Amino acid sequence: MTETRLERIAVALDTDDRDTYSDWCRLFGPRVGVLKVGPRVVLRWGRDAVREAAATGADVFLDMKFHDIPSTVAGAVGAAKELDVTYLTVHAGGGRRMLEAAAEEAGDEVRVLGITVLTHLGADDLRDLDLPGEAGDRVLSWARSAKAAGCAGVVCSPLELATLRARLGPELLLVSPGIRFDSVAVADDQRRVASPSAALRAGADLLVIGRPLTQAPDPEAALAALAEACE
Ligand code: C5P
Repeated sequence: MTETRLERIAVALDTDDRDTYSDWCRLFGPRVGVLKVGPRVVLRWGRDAVREAAATGADVFLDMKFHDIPSTVAGAVGAAKELDVTYLTVHAGGGRRMLEAAAEEAGDEVRVLGITVLTHLGADDLRDLDLPGEAGDRVLSWARSAKAAGCAGVVCSPLELATLRARLGPELLLVSPGIRFDSVAVADDQRRVASPSAALRAGADLLVIGRPLTQAPDPEAALAALAEACE
């Protein structure tokens, strides 16, 4: 049993089953710094589910990845503020004015994170989208744009962490999904991945981990292994 709260871990609570959601809140909420809720949860069970996560004492990360015109995104950020979430996401590719509107509406109450290139996308996907260059180059330019617009941080894959930390300084929050453990195999759509310790060494402030914890045969053991990796 892990006693200390793993402050730099955000558990992604991606499930379609209400009881499982509550079980995960009870299991992970007291053990990690952050619980992440996304569209699967919010569209089914709404604000009550977000409040349930917050009641565990963990910070809440509302991962709805807003991408719309600036006034609509600002309105959504305003609604999120009423839920007392600590982090929320917007797509950095939404452009400077959209990012500025989100950051301005968030003020000091919520940390806006700009999503850069999603971790399931590889070079072939980017070519398919007619986006030239390597994923890393696009991540850097979108992260720069998010920082300049006043976002608190960005979401990137573990492979871009070291470059972003070196190029964009110590203040910008770097949040990384795409975390995988050798010990837990998951059926997977993620492609740009690394281990927890590698991602922390490369400069991550927060690791987003879903299936390697939630689908682990023994989540307690997975948390204990993670605690060692985070030391
Ligand atoms: O199960 P897994 O560890 O892949 O979960 C990763 C979580 O992080 C999912 O909830 C996914 O929506 C989210 N995420 C991501 N890549 C991003 C941003 C968020 O995988 N760039």
